[in-house]
Amino acid sequence: MTVYGSFPGTRPRRLRTTPAMRRMVAETRLHPADLILPAFVREGAGEPVAISAMPGVVQHSLDTLRKAAVDAVSAGVSGIMLFGVPEDAKKDATGTAGTDPEGILQVAVRAVREEVGDDLVIMSDLCLDEYTDHGHCGVLDAGGRVDNDATLERYAEMAQVQADAGVHVVGTSGMMDGQVGVVRDALDTIGKEDVAVLAYAVKYSSAFYGPFREAVGSSLTGDRKTYQQDPANSRESLRELALDLEEGADMVMVKPAGPYLDVLAKVAAEVDVPVAAYQISGEYSMIEAAAEKGWIDRDKAILESLTGIKRAGAGMILTYWATEVARAL
Ligand code: PBG
Repeated sequence: MTVYGSFPGTRPRRLRTTPAMRRMVAETRLHPADLILPAFVREGAGEPVAISAMPGVVQHSLDTLRKAAVDAVSAGVSGIMLFGVPEDAKKDATGTAGTDPEGILQVAVRAVREEVGDDLVIMSDLCLDEYTDHGHCGVLDAGGRVDNDATLERYAEMAQVQADAGVHVVGTSGMMDGQVGVVRDALDTIGKEDVAVLAYAVKYSSAFYGPFREAVGSSLTGDRKTYQQDPANSRESLRELALDLEEGADMVMVKPAGPYLDVLAKVAAEVDVPVAAYQISGEYSMIEAAAEKGWIDRDKAILESLTGIKRAGAGMILTYWATEVARAL
C-alpha cells in the first residue's frame, strides 16, 4: 500500500467510531426536563378537534387537556403552556374573554392545576389575539392601529386573572412596549409576587406561525409587523432583551427557534436568566409533512431539530412533541 505524505496527521473520526464513543463525547444531551408542551384548549363541550395543519395536535377538550397534562408529567416534561380557543361568538374588539374569570383559558388553568398541582409548571399565553375579533395582539385605536398603552391595561388585567386562576408563569407574548413591567406590577399589586414572567423578549414576525392560526381559529387578516420583530434584524433583539430584563423578566424566550439559532446563541451568551426557545407550529408541521411524504426520517429529524436548539443555548424548549420526545428519551 502506498502512503502519500503524512496526512491525515490528526484523525477526528477516532471519536466517532462507535455509538458508545459518540455518546461519551456528545456535548449536548436532551433531557425530558428541558421540554415544555404547548397545548390548545377549546371552549364548549365535546370532543377534541384535530388541527389539519398540525397533524397529531388537537384543540383539546377540558377532559383531554387534563389527560395530556398527566401524560406530560409522567413523561418527565417540565411545563405546559396553555392557549385558549374561545367560541367565535365570544370574540370582540377588546378581547373580553381573555379577562373573564370564566374565559376558556382561565377555566383550563384551573382544571390543569387541579389535575397535576405543582407537578408541572403551568404557563399561560398572555396575549389578546385569541380573543379579539380582529385577531390582533392588542386593542386598536381609531385608525385601526394597535394601541400600545391601551393594550397594556388589558394585559395587566389578563395577568391578574390568569394568576388568580393558578398559573405559575405568565408568558408575555404580545410584543407591546412596556408589557413586562406592567404585568410585573399588576401581579405584585394583587399579592402574586411568586408568579413568574416568561418574557417573549425576542419574537419575530414569522411566516412559520401559519399553522398556529388554524390551531387557535385566528381571525387575523394582515400581519403583526408593527409589533413583532423584523426577521432581517438581530441587534434589536438585544435591545428588546435588555428592556425586558430591566422590567423584571424572570426568564426570556426566543421565538421561532430553528430559523433564529444565531439570535438564540447571542441571547444565551448575554443573559444570566434561564433562556427558552419556542419551536413553533410551522417548524413542527414542516417536519411532519416531509415525514408523511417519506422524504425524511421523522423521529431523527425531530431529535436533531431539538438538539440544535439546545446546542444553540436554550435551556428550555417549547415543542409540540414534548411528551413524545420525553418518553423516547
Ligand atoms: C400569540 C402567539 C402566537 C404563537 C404563540 N403565541 C402567534 C403569533 O404571535 O402570531 C405562535 C405559536 C406557534 O406558531 O406555534 N398569542
